[in-house]
Amino acid sequence: MATQLEPLANATQELCRNTPAGALFALVAALEAHTSHPSLEQLYGMLQGANFSEDDLRPYVGFKAGHYSRHRVFRNQWVEMLVLCWQPGHRTPIHDHNGSHGAVLVQQGVLWETMFTFDEETGLRYNSVREYQPGAVTGAGVPDIHQLGNPDVSEQNLITIHIYAPPLGVLHTYKPGSATIDLYTPDDSEA
Ligand SMILES: [Fe+2]
Repeated sequence: MATQLEPLANATQELCRNTPAGALFALVAALEAHTSHPSLEQLYGMLQGANFSEDDLRPYVGFKAGHYSRHRVFRNQWVEMLVLCWQPGHRTPIHDHNGSHGAVLVQQGVLWETMFTFDEETGLRYNSVREYQPGAVTGAGVPDIHQLGNPDVSEQNLITIHIYAPPLGVLHTYKPGSATIDLYTPDDSEA
């Protein structure tokens, strides 16, 4: 009996993935099925090939002047999913995820990611920069220090989809050339 039900479940999932309004629903269902922290590889797998439509994301898309905005799609004790909306020039502080790992899908626009290294003696140092186009997936492991942003010269808005496990709490922030580590709580007022 189980062998008969399994293909039906897969078929249903496939239908959801291929139906524009169902892509987000299918991903949230996959997140809800976890009873432990999904690995970074699993988060990558969930976002790679995801095909979200404008209808999927409309409830979570909104921009504001001065700072990128965060819109929460799902959160439980194991995992969190957000849609972030950035105008040109918006960027995060330089930060790590304080024990969480995360994957990011570019839905629309151009994402710049700047990577850093940290040493207690020499402080924070620039390492490299990468650019991501729509459909690209990037991510950060537990020790990674980075900064994400919409280039000020992009002339277009940026929409990114983020999954973190465990859900983000208080983050560590850094300054170039400094060994000082500060604390930062993302603005959840509209998440
Ligand atoms: Fe990050």
